[in-house]
Amino acid sequence: MCSKPILAWPPVTLRQARPADANNRLRCGRHPEATRMYGGDPANTAPLTAQDAEEWRRQTAADPLAWVIDVADRAIGTVRLHALRPADRCARLAIGIFDADCWGRGYGTWAIRLALRHAFETMGLHRVDLRVLEYNERGIAAYAKCGFRREGLERESALVAGRWYSDVIMGILEHEYRDLAPAWWADR
Ligand SMILES: CC(C)(COP(=O)(O)OP(=O)(O)OC[C@H]1O[C@@H](n2cnc3c(N)ncnc32)[C@H](O)[C@@H]1OP(=O)(O)O)[C@@H](O)C(=O)NCCC(=O)NCCS
Repeated sequence: MCSKPILAWPPVTLRQARPADANNRLRCGRHPEATRMYGGDPANTAPLTAQDAEEWRRQTAADPLAWVIDVADRAIGTVRLHALRPADRCARLAIGIFDADCWGRGYGTWAIRLALRHAFETMGLHRVDLRVLEYNERGIAAYAKCGFRREGLERESALVAGRWYSDVIMGILEHEYRDLAPAWWADR
């Protein structure tokens, strides 16, 4: 367990993982579409077990830069900053909403914006980037709404169910965040 700031922009809160979150993670299981968006093959992916859910909770709680995405006091997903390179003031963002009923409601966009606020305003980072499979149109649209720009393509870097797909590399710089963020936080 580690301390980490609670970040909130109602209805989305980014917070520490709690013991009860594992039950909700287990209830949601592994949605076939999410498995595919992570580059897995749903036909060859084992169902999520109680042990997997508890391990997810434990890892999220132990990582100082990983938050549970909470809506209405319920864990719906995770967002984290990883691959931190302090000398270059950059990190990589990863997000996953495991409750499929919560997709497409704007929660991911606000969770990403809160994580970027922490990255740029609290950690003083210069750059945050990510990689996303080329067919993840919802993810790419959400990242673009948060100011990520497409920077390149890692060609045929993922073999998914016997076919090659490319990873899109997207990134946002500190000055780009500062240009966009006032409008996000004033938008209420
Ligand atoms: C990717 C993810 C985090 C996005 O979060 P979300 O809350 O579903 O996304 P939001 O509702 O904030 O934004 C999605 C945007 O994509 C748009 N969108 C949805 N499906 C789309 C499609 N097929 N093509 C283009 N745009 C699409 C929506 O219209 C919305 O934009 P709008 O608000 O301007 O209308 C979430 O869907 C998720 O976790 N998916 C499963 C796992 C995953 O893909 N993780 C990321 C791996 S890189």
